[in-house]
Amino acid sequence: MSINDCKIIDLPRINDPRGNLTFVEGDVHIPFAIQRVYYLYDVPGGAERGGHAHKDLQQLIIAMSGSFDIHLDDGHSKKTFHMNRSYFGLYVPTMIWREIDNFSSGAVCMVLASERYSESDYYRAYQEFERAASARSSR
Ligand code: TYD
Repeated sequence: MSINDCKIIDLPRINDPRGNLTFVEGDVHIPFAIQRVYYLYDVPGGAERGGHAHKDLQQLIIAMSGSFDIHLDDGHSKKTFHMNRSYFGLYVPTMIWREIDNFSSGAVCMVLASERYSESDYYRAYQEFERAASARSSR
């Protein structure tokens, strides 16, 4: 997977004077079935999250509240996305290194994931990820 496969998905929005509503259906609005949902909250100022890549996991990352930056890296190219709307999701496919920082106060980062949690799916060392990414791209 390359950095060009990482993209912002514009989710459906039902605007209503009583408050807006957005929804996500697995395999409809995103290209995977949702197996897990997790979220980051109460993130202290200056903290960084992520710092890993996944072998088989795909994700959609949404700023449910507040804002943060997501830095993506496929082993060759890098891209940064500023997330600050709860109707935009960032699709992150397999084999992409991610770092998340610049959390605003009160930010909530929700992640929809294609797999259940598995530590063996992680690359937590950048060099190991880089080697695996270049081995895959030269196949
Ligand atoms: P990690 O994925 O490293 O967090 P982040 O990418 O947001 O910085 O996970 C942090 C810890 O939480 C780690 O010990 C694994 C655990 N964890 C679970 O047990 N289940 C989960 O679904 C997730 C995402 C993490």
